Amino acid sequence: MDKQTNLENAQARIAEASDQAVLADLERELLGKDGLLGQQLKEIPSLPPPERGPAGRAANELKAALTAGLLARAAELAEADLAADREGVGFDATLPAPPVERGSLHPITKVTRRLVQIFSSMGYHILDGPEVELDWYNFEALNIPADHPARDSQDTFYCGEEGRLVLRTHTSPVQVRAMERMTPPFRLVCPGKVFRHENTDATHEHTFHQMEGLVVGKDISVGHLVGTMKTLLRGIFGKEIDVRLRPGHFPFVEPGFELDARCVFCESGCRVCKGTRWIELLPCGLVHPKVLEAAGIDPSEWSGFAFGLGLSRLVMLSHGIDDVRHLLGGDLRFLEQFSC
Ligand code: PHE
Repeated sequence: MDKQTNLENAQARIAEASDQAVLADLERELLGKDGLLGQQLKEIPSLPPPERGPAGRAANELKAALTAGLLARAAELAEADLAADREGVGFDATLPAPPVERGSLHPITKVTRRLVQIFSSMGYHILDGPEVELDWYNFEALNIPADHPARDSQDTFYCGEEGRLVLRTHTSPVQVRAMERMTPPFRLVCPGKVFRHENTDATHEHTFHQMEGLVVGKDISVGHLVGTMKTLLRGIFGKEIDVRLRPGHFPFVEPGFELDARCVFCESGCRVCKGTRWIELLPCGLVHPKVLEAAGIDPSEWSGFAFGLGLSRLVMLSHGIDDVRHLLGGDLRFLEQFSC
């Protein structure tokens, strides 16, 4: 058989290959050592020298022709497979898709995002800080020395060597870290997790969320604090809400307050406000001069206010959740109620 007929036969067999496996066998047969191409290559050394060049070129052409034929058939077969799938063999576009489990954002994440939005719109920086904190930032620099009674109420998890490290008991250490780095005037909030060595019950949890706020500027007063809190409440509840201040003691603010907001759930007393029409919202106050000083800011030139918003508390209040342990309990039956 001449070479032309050999090639034509091979092309015909390629065209008839019924699937990819048959085609793969054929490829091995035609291009392999003992196949059509192999035979031609083997003959070359025994040819008279002037014929070797043309014979080499012919072998190359044969290889190119066979390879092109194999590739073209492979593409045809793949296309046919797809077409068959589309025809309904192995693929039914009308079958319902497997159910997808949809996740959702945790209510704390949602509240945090909303607050971050409100504070960003007022020009606040959003900061983060370490959850494992130095005693200095969590206490000392906040005017809470080692022998201060306020330490007792913070139920601290001490860790690390000689108790120099603590799991932060509040987000206030971020105030100090920020004041060290930033040049006044500035405003910031810092949402995050805090930890206390609590006996857990419906209102106490070892891990919960707070959002610290700090504003430092010239002549900052309690008026600015109250105004900001009212803007915050308008942002959350979409209406004007009255607030009131009661004295509160925190070593890092002077004066210190507890800020209450008018109950948004009732007109004449309810379970949430315990009949008082006021809801305890957050502790706050003007930054103590010693705290400014500890962070390298001159208190004769600058003043500021700070507040510590309990995010877990806010979520509980706004959804009527009566047990704080639900929040981080990881029970999907609880969490699924917030999916939307
Ligand atoms: N860091 C305080 C706490 O968690 C709350 C607070 C923050 C009070 C800022 C006043 C000002 O106990």
